[in-house]
Amino acid sequence: MDKRPLMLDVDTGVDDAAAIALAIGLNPHLVAISTVAGNVPIDASTENTRRVLSLLGREDVPVYRGASRPLTATYHDAAHVHGSNGLGGVELPPATTTEGDCTGPEAIVRMAERYAGELTLITVGPLTNLAIALSLRPGITLQIARLVIMGGAYFHPGNITPFSEFNLYVDPDAAGQVFNAEWDDITAIGLDVTHQTALTRNMWEAIPEDATGAAGLVRAISERTCAERARSGFFLHDPLAVAVALDSSLITGQRHAVTMDLQGDTRGQSNVTGVGNVLVATEVRADVFVRRFCEALNLPYV
Ligand code: RIB
Ligand code: CA
Repeated sequence: MDKRPLMLDVDTGVDDAAAIALAIGLNPHLVAISTVAGNVPIDASTENTRRVLSLLGREDVPVYRGASRPLTATYHDAAHVHGSNGLGGVELPPATTTEGDCTGPEAIVRMAERYAGELTLITVGPLTNLAIALSLRPGITLQIARLVIMGGAYFHPGNITPFSEFNLYVDPDAAGQVFNAEWDDITAIGLDVTHQTALTRNMWEAIPEDATGAAGLVRAISERTCAERARSGFFLHDPLAVAVALDSSLITGQRHAVTMDLQGDTRGQSNVTGVGNVLVATEVRADVFVRRFCEALNLPYV
């Protein structure tokens, strides 16, 4: 079991929930979660995160409410993908814990300080909170040991526009500020690799109807995608970022500088420009990852 202190920044939707379950399964030293407006507005993102932690028996993990909108861009949600409440329309039991005692960006600064040199931060939503945290305390780049970002489409088409991946599209300014900072260890997990990983419909159908815990959660919240929307499955975008943060051998890639298009038709496009410090993932050991995901959440691997 990995014991490194882990912090997630999420916009809890369906795959964020699966990523939280995976982080708990692979690394119990989950020290905090900050929430951001993305797939769903901040109220839902925060409530969903608290309810998922409660369902998985981890109400000890503090949840810090973050930004309710992008730095400058107009906010766009992804309710059409994740359902109006962000969890495929599934109403989880209410959480009994209270929210954390500071904002999401302040929590990132706090955890970077508390676990200086050790913290792994994984962002799986728009980068608004991290950009604000950088503005509050630029020195966090020296304290956060490892940053893994689910976001971008580098040598691959986008998913919210032909050019842009959703997380970076929602707040391209924030993404540009994050990529511009001097991180010791920054990895970008984009659609180039996440589109090679999915919970297929066959796998969903193989989950027992009476499954509980993480398996029951995944079965319930992916029903809308697999049944109502009749999709062939859902991509494991956010869980892959968690798995790579704990085992970098799952991906290979090249180091690039990354810039963002901030407006116009290509708003949110992530551009690789020459050599830089961002490890942009281009290949993934998809079978190894999906098997590990299934084992950690007690899902059938079919
Ligand atoms: O483009 C995929 C990303 O956007 C994932 O993080 C998903 O949860 C949505 O936030
Ligand atoms: Ca997400």
